[in-house]
Amino acid sequence: MLKVESLHVAYGEVATLRGVELEVKEGTIMSLTGRNGVGKTTFLKTLMGLQPVREGTIEFAGEDITGMPAHQRVHQGLGYVPQGRQIFPRLSVEENLILGLDARSDGLKKVPEEVYEFFPVLFDMKARQGGNLSGGQQQQLAIGRALATGPKLLILDEPTEGIQPNIIQLIGDILQRLVKETGLTVLLVEQYLDFIREISNEFSIMNRGSISAHGPITDLTTDLVHQYLSV
Ligand SMILES: Nc1ncnc2c1ncn2[C@@H]1O[C@H](COP(=O)(O)OP(=O)(O)OP(=O)(O)O)[C@@H](O)[C@H]1O
Ligand SMILES: [Mg+2]
Repeated sequence: MLKVESLHVAYGEVATLRGVELEVKEGTIMSLTGRNGVGKTTFLKTLMGLQPVREGTIEFAGEDITGMPAHQRVHQGLGYVPQGRQIFPRLSVEENLILGLDARSDGLKKVPEEVYEFFPVLFDMKARQGGNLSGGQQQQLAIGRALATGPKLLILDEPTEGIQPNIIQLIGDILQRLVKETGLTVLLVEQYLDFIREISNEFSIMNRGSISAHGPITDLTTDLVHQYLSV
């Protein structure tokens, strides 16, 4: 579904991604992990068209999207939940979700039922200001907003950051249900290993701007963790 080949990205003269190779198979959950500052967020921004590519290609659903503008990538089916959630605190929950609709290609004007089915708390709190939700509720809102865009591939940047354990569990369950019940594909950037192990089919480890290890989740050994993830 997603295939990235020798991707290079730089901030000015500073090379940040140096030849990233990554493939996400349809109907699976791929977790990308790695220490702070190795380039995970930069990689996701590049996938979304928010950061220019120096070299390499990004292929999505059989199409080369390397130079495609960001809004068009959302039309094509890339949904993005940015690190730190970035919801609009002064807008209501429903208004935040409606903003996701603007990016759709089918002109839908109403929040899809499915979003409220997967996140009942968002239905209950429809009228509340986004900024008045708890951290865990805001994370659900951010995921709900991305779902409202009608994605085929959902890309999440550290959704468990600063969230309490029961909500982490809930988010993990919902992501797995979305894959099973709706055929969604997920690319998750995450540092919480227990969560990765519980929900992923495959993993990739990024180190200093390239992929150092990858494979089925059962191959994520303690040796790899010590080598690339321990601080
Ligand atoms: N807008 C920017 N301009 C210049 N350098 C940047 C910019 N954004 C990120 N960087 C640098 O690029 C490198 C990779 O940052 P990035 O945010 O992609 O890492 P990350 O793996 O997501 O880290 P974290 O786990 O802390 O979220 C870091 O050295 C960072 O300081
Ligand atoms: Mg990051």
